[in-house]
Amino acid sequence: MPYSTLDIRQVGSTLLVELNRPEKLNALNHTLLNELEHLVTEILHTRDFRAMIITGKGKAFAAGADIAELAECTKETGADFARRGQRVFAMIESLPIPVVAAVGGYALGGGCELAMACHIRFASPNAVFGQPEIKLGIIPGYGGTQRLSRLIGVARAVEYMLTGDSISAQRAYELGLVNRIIESERLLDETLTFCATLEKLPPRAIEAILRTTYGVLSAHYEDEAVQFGILCGTDDFREGTSAFLEKRTPIFSGR
Ligand code: COA
Repeated sequence: MPYSTLDIRQVGSTLLVELNRPEKLNALNHTLLNELEHLVTEILHTRDFRAMIITGKGKAFAAGADIAELAECTKETGADFARRGQRVFAMIESLPIPVVAAVGGYALGGGCELAMACHIRFASPNAVFGQPEIKLGIIPGYGGTQRLSRLIGVARAVEYMLTGDSISAQRAYELGLVNRIIESERLLDETLTFCATLEKLPPRAIEAILRTTYGVLSAHYEDEAVQFGILCGTDDFREGTSAFLEKRTPIFSGR
């Protein structure tokens, strides 16, 4: 399948996947999610690779779900919008090979959630993480409420979700959200070197580590999708998404 939003290349036995919508900061639109799903399905069928890297072209890893598409959500469609992303990210997390996110810029909203669905995160010093959905009148919907809490602890995760504040690379490292900080110019090469090391290790043991570590999805993912859908029916969601697209500050009414 030809990919329009992903740039894919094989290095040794590692699959290097670059999100390729730099003009929209690699915002995750339907096409990109479909292509990721297709790619992950292929990897599972062919079993050709020993590791995978996800990174972003340009100044972002990914700046979130595509807000232009998100703005179309209603209380009828919002939960399925969330379930769609959740499913693709769960497929990535469930892969039997290590998936490493190389984050060289913004990883916000769905971008942060995608990075968290990877097993390991390397970031450059200028990387920026965060779950700013609150500023759109919604909540993280692609698994962020669960994965951020698991990675940095519930209290800190709740603080970042409630404020929508950004998390610098250094802070993300201190919190355990990021495994390593690597200078921008060496980020990809060092991530590839790391994966080359993993390629030499026994694949069945790697698969067993991943399976036992990540286990099964918790019921809270479905709660997250349901709440996300309900919020898509509110005035505050309309106001938050319109304000972003119109490049102005939102005024929330609580309705
Ligand atoms: N969805 C759709 N388009 C997005 C996007 C998103 N999540 N994030 C950025 N873009 C688009 C912008 O609209 C802009 O498009 P335009 O050039 O056609 O106007 C382009 O990408 C560049 O973004 P811009 O905002 O001009 O870059 P910046 O460097 O000034 O700001 C961010 C970068 C990341 C701070 C800002 O883009 C942002 O806040 N993005 C949204 C983050 C977010 O809320 N994510 C959660 C979504 S659920």
